[in-house]
Amino acid sequence: MRQMLWHAGVCYNHQTMSEKFYLTTPLYYVNDVPHIGHSYTTIAADVLARYKRLKGYDVWFLTGTDEHGQKIAIAAEENKKTSQEHVDMVVERFKGVWEKLGISYDDFIRTTETRHTEVVQKIFSRLKEQGDLYKGEYEGWYCTPCETFWADNQLILKDGKNFCPDCGRETQKLKEETYFFKLSKYQDQLLAYIDANPDFIQPPSRKHEIVNFIKQGLRDLSVTRTTFTWGVPIPDDPKHVVYVWFDALINYISALGYPDGEKFKKYWPADVHLMGKEIVRFHAVIWPAMLLALGVPLPKRVFGHGWWTVEGEKMSKSKGNVVDPIALAEDYGVDAVRYFILKAVPFGADGDFSYKNLFTTYNADLANDLGNLVHRSLTMVEKYFGGEIPETDNPAMDDLSKELLQARADLGAKVEKHMQELAFSLALGDIWELIGKANTYIEREAPWNLKKAGKEKELAAFINNLASVLATVAFFVAPFIFTTGEKIFLALGIKNHEELALILASDQPGKQIAHKKVCKGEPLFPRREA
Ligand code: MSP
Repeated sequence: MRQMLWHAGVCYNHQTMSEKFYLTTPLYYVNDVPHIGHSYTTIAADVLARYKRLKGYDVWFLTGTDEHGQKIAIAAEENKKTSQEHVDMVVERFKGVWEKLGISYDDFIRTTETRHTEVVQKIFSRLKEQGDLYKGEYEGWYCTPCETFWADNQLILKDGKNFCPDCGRETQKLKEETYFFKLSKYQDQLLAYIDANPDFIQPPSRKHEIVNFIKQGLRDLSVTRTTFTWGVPIPDDPKHVVYVWFDALINYISALGYPDGEKFKKYWPADVHLMGKEIVRFHAVIWPAMLLALGVPLPKRVFGHGWWTVEGEKMSKSKGNVVDPIALAEDYGVDAVRYFILKAVPFGADGDFSYKNLFTTYNADLANDLGNLVHRSLTMVEKYFGGEIPETDNPAMDDLSKELLQARADLGAKVEKHMQELAFSLALGDIWELIGKANTYIEREAPWNLKKAGKEKELAAFINNLASVLATVAFFVAPFIFTTGEKIFLALGIKNHEELALILASDQPGKQIAHKKVCKGEPLFPRREA
């Protein structure tokens, strides 16, 4: 039975059985090192996972790497490595970056692992047996960087050459024996599902694109290749390897031990698949059709976020403008990077990364608004009350205090609404609104005057209110900037996250926080000079 204590959007969790939440990132191609674009999807997923854990959900957060296909085989050759050596090396870089960025995944799947390849083969055999796969010949175009098949009428024609409509690079003509998946068979069922589940594809712009795409008519999809070997060989016909997307999409269930694994029973269907906008089509058309063919329930939500450019340009190695998340984190700190990347752009829209914008946001939001609030509040606890948070029997002593405490109590519901919508920048906006109010509260209450006038009770209420606001801020910033969240509650003399949740879930957090001994420490975000 669930037994939870709720107050002001904070839950203190005593459950023995909790609601599950399964979320995934795409599996990253290991042809290259991870950049800020990959980090974007992963940080967003991590924030959501941490938030859901905070709310008492039993979260399963899956990420991993997509290690097969022509593109990887070519990258390995260029690096003078076997494909396996190449992927074994690059996967470590991905794991290293995720560790550095504090990504709290529960499982990391590689498509070269046996636990995955076995499931791919089983699924392939089953779909073949039931007539959803058939042998034929594919003649058409292929974009290797995108690992995507294109029909004649989808290509961009320039100077007698055919270019990929997604990435703009030249495609190659293929003519080879292949197995086809009967995608066309599932067209009507897919449209019906999308219609019956309005939140399935998000944001709405992506949904319109997908619906239009399906309505143009789905063609059966080539799902094996015979001109290279770096892939999962299909049972009984091993000159074919499974098409890299058909292989990789299966990870979302193979990692859970499909079909009989306990995790599969517990966590499937996925609550959300997160990804960039360019791969929504694979997740909202091909993947659900595969699941329909298998008789497996469809994911609840597929969310396609926007793309980052850098100083107005597409990120690319040849332009030399690829933003390295590690270098950025070493310069600004992990929390600043996590904050900026989710605050700067509404999730779902495209954004432009600029160093100037990062610099300005850091100084304004982190150093000034949050850093200063914490620093001056703690300084006042030290100066006026010898470092011990005072108690008060009248926290709502005046209108300003009432307003601040109300804003504090309302924050949880606001953040919850925006987190449900994956509107990360708005959720951060909600938290920073409270931070702004607390800063204004200090200016308006002018504690130095209260002190001068000998208004000790008012001063105590004032400090106590600030402390409970800081505790609330510590709680809600934690999914985004967890080190900062922890530093704030530790500075308030709160031992750990459980204690913080207990304090905030009570109806009188001010009472709970009184008599804690603060410890100011270093400024959270030292101001940066240009
Ligand atoms: N391997 C496939 C996914 C298979 S999932 C079964 C793939 N990999 S990828 O490495 O190319 O991209 C993974 C993710 O990184 C996508 O969500 C993509 O949108 C994201 N990004 C890569 N570059 C990006 C930007 N410049 N901006 C934002 N995100 C981008 O696709």
